[in-house]
Amino acid sequence: MTTDDQLTFRQFLLREHRNHGTPKDLIFLLEDIATACRTISHKIRSGAFAGTLGATEDTNVQGETQKQLDVIANDQFMLHCANCSRVAALVSEELDNVVWLKDQAKAGDYIIYFDPLDGSSNLELNISVGSIFSIVELQEDLTELNDEAVLIAGTEQICAGYSLYGPSTSLVVTTGHGVNGFTHLNGTGEFLLTFPDMQVPAQTQEYAINSSRQKYWEAPVQRYVEECLVGVDGPRGKRFNMRWVASMVAEVHRILTRGGVFLYPRDSENAPMGGRLRLLYEANPMGFIIEQAGGKASVGGGRILEVDPTELHQRVPVILGSSEEVDLLDRYHSE
Ligand code: F6P
Repeated sequence: MTTDDQLTFRQFLLREHRNHGTPKDLIFLLEDIATACRTISHKIRSGAFAGTLGATEDTNVQGETQKQLDVIANDQFMLHCANCSRVAALVSEELDNVVWLKDQAKAGDYIIYFDPLDGSSNLELNISVGSIFSIVELQEDLTELNDEAVLIAGTEQICAGYSLYGPSTSLVVTTGHGVNGFTHLNGTGEFLLTFPDMQVPAQTQEYAINSSRQKYWEAPVQRYVEECLVGVDGPRGKRFNMRWVASMVAEVHRILTRGGVFLYPRDSENAPMGGRLRLLYEANPMGFIIEQAGGKASVGGGRILEVDPTELHQRVPVILGSSEEVDLLDRYHSE
């Protein structure tokens, strides 16, 4: 197969339009998001020359130090997502409040949630980082704008995706009809369909968790990891490998490619905040993608996508990946 045989992102989206009725507005919006990601990729690659790899003096609403590239990536998403007249509101990890692009909004208008640069603590290390996005339709007409209207469960997502800025730049997207992965062909401006119909294998021998937090873990997670570590001699009867990149996009991409399970569970330290990762622009889009690829995504006893959001920057526990492992972890949580 040569690059000439691989569909461009636009050709793929037009095929989705023909096969599944994907709306033209969504196609334009996704092309704009792809432009934002391509530009962010370029800004990251030139960050060492531009002196933008380091921190700003600000903290974001999460109380985390903002990197210069967090701000640059956020600006790119804001700029490109505003092109589509159907977009009513933007919700960013980097911004305290909803940004409304209209004075009044209609049911069916789009809300875009995004984490413009996830894993940005890895930037100076030249380790992979990514952008995550999720799109839902507004459920009702709004004559008066109201931030609570964007608190919509993940089951309502019509599209989700991420871009991974690694040795190559990937764009992985679902519009609810499976998951497809594209790679940026440098110098052409095109994302080509290189990983069609991505599937998470049901079984795995690899897990990902930040084990420096072990003393805070709850019993079901302690049990799960202990059993993985015992390997062939324990109840699992097989050896497990462990990986932790500290960059959720890279972990999810690995799981989509060769299977595995990713855990950022509730523990005794993060429980007062609800967990570590954010529901609307991290857990929901990744959960949707993983489910569309045949995997599962749970808070530890319930689908992430069914969590009713109560706050814009709400945090939740996240367990996602190969279905057999997520099922087992759910069982341990229920016992
Ligand atoms: O949400 C930000 C994030 O960087 C994720 O991408 C990653 O999975 C996690 O935090 C890393 O957390 P820790 O710093 O505990 O390893």
